[in-house]
Amino acid sequence: MLVPSAPLLKRARAGKYAVPAFNVNNLEILKAVMTAATALKSPVIIQTSEGAIEYAGMPYLVAMARVAAEASIPVVLHVDHGKDLTILKAAIGAGYTSVMFDGSKLPYAQNVTITKQVVKWAHAKGVSVEAELGVLAGIEDFVSATDREASLTDPVQASEFIRATGCDALAVAIGTAHGAYKFKGMPHLDIPRLKEIATRVKTPLVLHGASGVLEDVVKLAEHYGAELMDARGVLDKDIASAIKYGIAKVNIDTDLRLAFTAGVREAVADFPSVIDPRKILAPAMTLMTEVAKRKIRLLKSGNKR
Ligand code: G3H
Ligand code: 13P
Ligand code: ZN
Repeated sequence: MLVPSAPLLKRARAGKYAVPAFNVNNLEILKAVMTAATALKSPVIIQTSEGAIEYAGMPYLVAMARVAAEASIPVVLHVDHGKDLTILKAAIGAGYTSVMFDGSKLPYAQNVTITKQVVKWAHAKGVSVEAELGVLAGIEDFVSATDREASLTDPVQASEFIRATGCDALAVAIGTAHGAYKFKGMPHLDIPRLKEIATRVKTPLVLHGASGVLEDVVKLAEHYGAELMDARGVLDKDIASAIKYGIAKVNIDTDLRLAFTAGVREAVADFPSVIDPRKILAPAMTLMTEVAKRKIRLLKSGNKR
């Protein structure tokens, strides 16, 4: 049975580990994630973006997640970065057990109003809600360091936001960005800011843009022709510090994308005459399983059923 995220995340924050939230777009990614989580007995969040829902179709995603949830570990089906209220309402009605409303780019008051509305709809059906405050973006998206600083989550506002909305988890901006190009130069997370947020907010916190952009996987993909110059992810030690200061859900998409890409490229290059999709996709699935296991070990969520 699919379960809501709120109780899992509360337990994770109290126990100082984080639940992995993997972005899923198709059967191969889902199977890889489930193989890893089941082997390590880790709770797992299967999250689908609005783009994933458009690509795969909500009924297919719900049906696949229900099958996945027959495993002997807690499985959550979550909407990642929901912005379209029609999609969020449909997901709540279709069997999703957790949704994110991403109002991070809206003015504060509007973010509060809409998050509150989503909480009302979701909680009426036992569905958990993640919200976001502060803007996630790469260093190159800002003209100056001051602008960038202003985009990060304000600790005082975070605590007001939680009180005003009643959301179950809060995504915070502390210097990460989505994708494979997170930092210019040395990776840097604002851990003192997170520490301050964690002192004021007892609700589980969420780290987006948390992929490590694993060097060996990047090298493998590059070896088979992918162009990934200057790709740079979050350091393992920063993930460990983040968990110490309240991060209870860690979002991973890019690391799986890189593994998928490396696996497919390798299979196609090594066996140019193969036309069986299964022979092309199975190695990608194996590589994604290995990467998902590494993430679970990093988050210390194994054996936390
Ligand atoms: O946060 C974004 C996730 O990586 C999902 O990306 O919207 O391209 O599916 P997507
Ligand atoms: P990455 O791009 O670092 O994998 O982040 C994924 C994410 O935050 C999805 O919401
Ligand atoms: Zn995200």
